[in-house]
Formats: sequence, C-alpha cells, structure tokens
Amino acid sequence: MKRRDLLNGLAIAATAGPFMARDALAQETERSNPRETASVEGCVALVTGSNRGVGLGFVEILLERGAKRVYATARNPDNLPAVVALDPDRVVPLQLDVNNNEHRHAAAAAAKDVTWVINNAAYPGSRVPEERRIRSASTLDDSKLVMETNCWSPAELARLFIPIILNNGGGAIANVLSAASWFCLPEYSSYSLSKAAMMMMTNGLRAELDRDPVLVASVFTGGVDTRASPAGSNGGISPKEHARQVFDAMAQGDTDVYAAGSKGMRDAINADPEAFERGRIKRFYESPLTIRNHT
Ligand SMILES: NC(=O)c1ccc[n+]([C@@H]2O[C@H](COP(=O)([O-])OP(=O)(O)OC[C@H]3O[C@@H](n4cnc5c(N)ncnc54)[C@H](OP(=O)(O)O)[C@@H]3O)[C@@H](O)[C@H]2O)c1
Repeated sequence: MKRRDLLNGLAIAATAGPFMARDALAQETERSNPRETASVEGCVALVTGSNRGVGLGFVEILLERGAKRVYATARNPDNLPAVVALDPDRVVPLQLDVNNNEHRHAAAAAAKDVTWVINNAAYPGSRVPEERRIRSASTLDDSKLVMETNCWSPAELARLFIPIILNNGGGAIANVLSAASWFCLPEYSSYSLSKAAMMMMTNGLRAELDRDPVLVASVFTGGVDTRASPAGSNGGISPKEHARQVFDAMAQGDTDVYAAGSKGMRDAINADPEAFERGRIKRFYESPLTIRNHT
C-alpha cells in the first residue's frame, strides 16, 4: 500500500474515532486532505544546506512547483542572498549550522509555518583520506563529526519540527540519504556508516509518525553533479532533475525514494551482495574514489 493511500484512509477513520481532534485541527489549517501533504504545491519548506548542490536544486524546484514559502538555510549566511534572489517574496534566508543547537532552536522559532523539512546538509568527512576511515584514522573525532552532521543533527531537527508540522496540519520530512546507506564505500567509511545510521533513524521516525499525516521519505540518491560528485566522473544528473525525481516520487506517496540512478545500484546489490562488496573493495585498493571538492 502506498503511504498516500494509508494517510487518506486515516483521514476517513479520523472523522469517527480518536483522531477527531487532529482532523478538526487539519480542517482549520486548510490542509484537511492528508493526500496533499505529499504535494509540493502550497507547502512551506525548510531546506538545510540550501546554498549549493542538491539543496539548491530542491529550493529551485520547490519554487517552480508552487511552494508557498521556502526557508533557505545555510551555515554561512553570506551564501544566501543569491538563493533569496531566486524569488525574494517566497525565499526566507536563515542561518542554520545543523550542528549548532542555538541555530536549530532559532530556526524552529522563526519558521512556525513549516510543513516540510528537507534534511539535505551533509559532511562527507575530512580532506585527509586516512581520517575518513576506521583503522587508519588518528582518532575517531572526524568520524564522530560526520555522524553528528549526517545523523544526529537531522534527528534533532526532525524532533523540533514534528510538532510544528503537525500543528500546521501535516506535511513531510525528506531525509537525503545515499546509495551508500546500503554498502560501505571504504574510502569514505565514516560517511557510509553515518548514512546507514540515518537510514535507520528515518525508518524509526516513519514508524513513530505512522498514525500522523506526515510522509517520512528516505531519499536514496545516486549520482548528482555537485562538488561532492566523484572526481573524474561526469557527475550524474543535475540537482534540479534530482529534485524533480524526488518530488515526483513523494507525490505518489513513496517512502523509499530512488533518485539519480540509485535503483540500478540497489538491483545490483540484491542480485549479488558479496560481488558488489568485492567490487567496492577492489576499487579501494586499485583506484580509490574521492569527491571533487572537500570543503
Ligand atoms: N552529489 C551526489 O552525487 C550525492 C550522492 C548521494 C547523496 N548525496 C547527498 O546529497 C546531499 C547534498 O550533497 P551535495 O552533493 O549537494 O554536496 P555538497 O555540494 O558538498 O553540499 C553539501 C551541503 O551541505 C552543507 N553543510 C555541510 N555541513 C553543514 C552543517 N554543519 N550545517 C549546515 N550545512 C552544512 C554545505 O554547506 P557549505 O556550503 O557551508 O559547506 C552544502 O550546502 C547530502 O546529504 C549528500 O550526502 C549526494
């Protein structure tokens, strides 16, 4: 069953059951049909790491598809004027280092009309290859920062924004994962383990919100042309095309969203998990992968 249908069924059940109060609230907020919570049109979205790459693509397509307002957030506010210039009437800039608790609370206080949260910001790990691994790292400090940025901080943001989303009648949380949630990239072990943890965190959130009108989407991203693309590769699809694929899938009520070619990787893993892992290990020794630009 599609999540959208489940949500719609809940709305019907709610008219005669213990969900009556929530249903009445939803009607007050003009978002009485939970089916609409999976549609970008009219949503109020907050996007982390929206100053470039995949996050900027989300902002552009949110605007293109009729979002009412977009909170474009970045850790460095100097990077936001160009994003606001996309549509000054609808784009609201907010400084948000996802690891900064004060920033997180200030964002939740400023953005009380949010219905969608897109946890996009991520840290791939140190510029120094050895520090991104388990055995060779001098300490696990960088690995812990990766985990903080990619798993615990999005979880903290979800915890802060769930009451806000519910108060506004429902909506969506999209957690941007990676095909590397399913396997280890040994060149980026800490990144892979953070994305695997984030995947499970997302599953937990989805279960906890199963009786609420919130679509919790796991976005399995393959290859998008950004600074984080593998060096020497063609990069993959554009951030805007990636955002279109994600929003199309969410509009169908999909909770597992395959974007930018990740479905092919999923199929290859399913077909022969051991061979897939051997392939990653071989590359690690013979032609290690690195991203274009560590910042
Ligand atoms: N590109 C791909 O092929 C690909 C594949 C799989 C998954 N993904 C996922 O897609 C998402 C975006 O990646 P991308 O390709 O757009 O990478 P990117 O170009 O490196 O962008 C990363 C973004 O995250 C922000 N960021 C990092 N740490 C932050 C923090 N502590 N607080 C707030 N913002 C922070 C960066 O801000 P600054 O500009 O300040 O550094 C930047 O806006 C990530 O979740 C990534 O794992 C991408």
